[in-house]
Amino acid sequence: MNEGGGRVCVIGAGSSGIAAAQVMHAREIEFDCFELGSEVGGNWRYMNDNGMSSSYLSLHINTSRRTTAYATYPMPADYPDYPSHFQIAEYFDAYVDHFGFRDHIRFRTEVTHVEPAPGGTWNVRWRSLDAGEESSGVYSAVLVANGHHWDARWPEPAFEGQTSFEGAEIHVHDYKTPDVLEGKRVLVLGIGNSATDIAVEASRVADAAFLAMRRGAWIVPKYLKGKPTDELTNAVTSRLPITILRAGLKRQLKQAIGEPMDYGLPEPDHKLAEAHPTVSSDLLPRLGHGEITVKPNIAAFAGGKAVRFSDGSSEEIDVVVYCTGYKITFPFFDEDLISAPDNEIPLYRRVVSPQHPGLYFIGLCQPLGAIMPLSEAQSEWVADLVEAKVGLPEVTEMQREIARERERMAKRYVASKRHTIQVDFDPYLRSLKRERKRRRGAGRLLARSR
Ligand SMILES: Cc1cc2nc3c(=O)[nH]c(=O)nc-3n(C[C@H](O)[C@H](O)[C@H](O)COP(=O)(O)OP(=O)(O)OC[C@H]3O[C@@H](n4cnc5c(N)ncnc54)[C@H](O)[C@@H]3O)c2cc1C
Ligand SMILES: NC(=O)c1ccc[n+]([C@@H]2O[C@H](COP(=O)([O-])OP(=O)(O)OC[C@H]3O[C@@H](n4cnc5c(N)ncnc54)[C@H](OP(=O)(O)O)[C@@H]3O)[C@@H](O)[C@H]2O)c1
Repeated sequence: MNEGGGRVCVIGAGSSGIAAAQVMHAREIEFDCFELGSEVGGNWRYMNDNGMSSSYLSLHINTSRRTTAYATYPMPADYPDYPSHFQIAEYFDAYVDHFGFRDHIRFRTEVTHVEPAPGGTWNVRWRSLDAGEESSGVYSAVLVANGHHWDARWPEPAFEGQTSFEGAEIHVHDYKTPDVLEGKRVLVLGIGNSATDIAVEASRVADAAFLAMRRGAWIVPKYLKGKPTDELTNAVTSRLPITILRAGLKRQLKQAIGEPMDYGLPEPDHKLAEAHPTVSSDLLPRLGHGEITVKPNIAAFAGGKAVRFSDGSSEEIDVVVYCTGYKITFPFFDEDLISAPDNEIPLYRRVVSPQHPGLYFIGLCQPLGAIMPLSEAQSEWVADLVEAKVGLPEVTEMQREIARERERMAKRYVASKRHTIQVDFDPYLRSLKRERKRRRGAGRLLARSR
């Protein structure tokens, strides 16, 4: 069966896929959206039957309601500043129904293979989970929105003696409720947002909670001056040099909460805003209560349930929760076509694959801020490209810009697999706006007109 025709294919109906679908629908661009699970919302659908959600029961967004909402659809005014995953999933449902494109989403349908086809088109294969039926179609463009926080990254390489550890080991991707920590001696590894959340949960139910990390982090509270912290910068202030923004935020943090070292955390080996922000208003008081013990990195598993740390200390541990991040993975591409070893994937403006006309990535970025409004803006740009309203620079120019951006980000952020797709929220939005203006009628038209 050959479906598709000149249409656009959207892979995934998480917050990025539905943003893409909304824009295609509004522009009357014909599209099919394929979704593995039974519902929209991806990561934000707790216990999603796609098996890919990393939400745990207590999860709330850490980007505030107003900065997280799509530009075209505000969150309900009676939502709190930091809604729960249940509320966020409800918001996504309301968004889809408000714009009326649910019938374009093929639920319980897995995209299994995507490859280039003659004439610059793309051959997409999919499998219906219920009927078990395989089908394929040729699409003029493919918008990949399969998410980048579902494929658990375990410590690489494994720690010495790890395979003989007699306690339990889980990755936070599989963590749902704190009952698995109750009465246990729990070690949480990492100092990102997952690690701080789980360490705080452990501190309430575990027999002992340890938080180990290989470097320190600047902890940012959810509120400063009575406002959600991410509302303190805006499109205007974001034009200031990072050094000035950093100095301002550092001063406010110092006044409000002091420094991480005041609570027994190690001094970060980097400046504020040189790492993805660790946002927590709960961690520091739990440290202050002595309910969480800070440790340096794991050095080795020392037999039985013993864990030795890099400062030579040891603890008996029942459960290790690895909060060590995620891999960027595309199971439907042949690896030699597109892959992201060590989370590196060279894309122009984090969206366009220069060598693969018609292939676009939505939401594959890690902002200092929320992803949803960026996915929406990316989709508007991609719709312009699909409609051939704008063009792209030559491949070599895109590659040069990718290299320049990579260099800029390497200077800006700590070298880590979690910082390979970073963008600064407002400057990035501005760069997309420029793409939508400057390139009108110029450059190489990669997209076919419909
Ligand atoms: C615990 C946690 C908390 C977070 N908190 C925030 C926050 O507060 N603010 C923020 O902005 N970001 C946050 N993030 C980042 C998160 O990535 C985004 O919020 C958001 O989920 C990205 O949406 P997405 O659509 O790109 O990916 P996902 O939500 O992962 O959705 C991808 C969708 O694609 C579908 N899919 C995948 N493969 C296929 C396939 N082969 N065929 C068909 N369908 C497929 C999946 O079923 C899924 O529905 C958080 C991430 C985690 C893990
Ligand atoms: N809304 C919320 O409240 C919330 C909650 C959880 C997660 N999130 C989001 O979900 C995404 C993923 O967050 P995450 O915390 O799961 O992952 P992450 O941000 O990638 O952080 C991974 C952490 O593990 C450390 N690490 C990785 N490999 C290690 C190793 N081998 N040994 C020791 N430490 C290692 C990293 O250290 P290095 O820095 O040294 O690499 C880092 O501290 C982020 O976007 C985050 O904002 C949001």
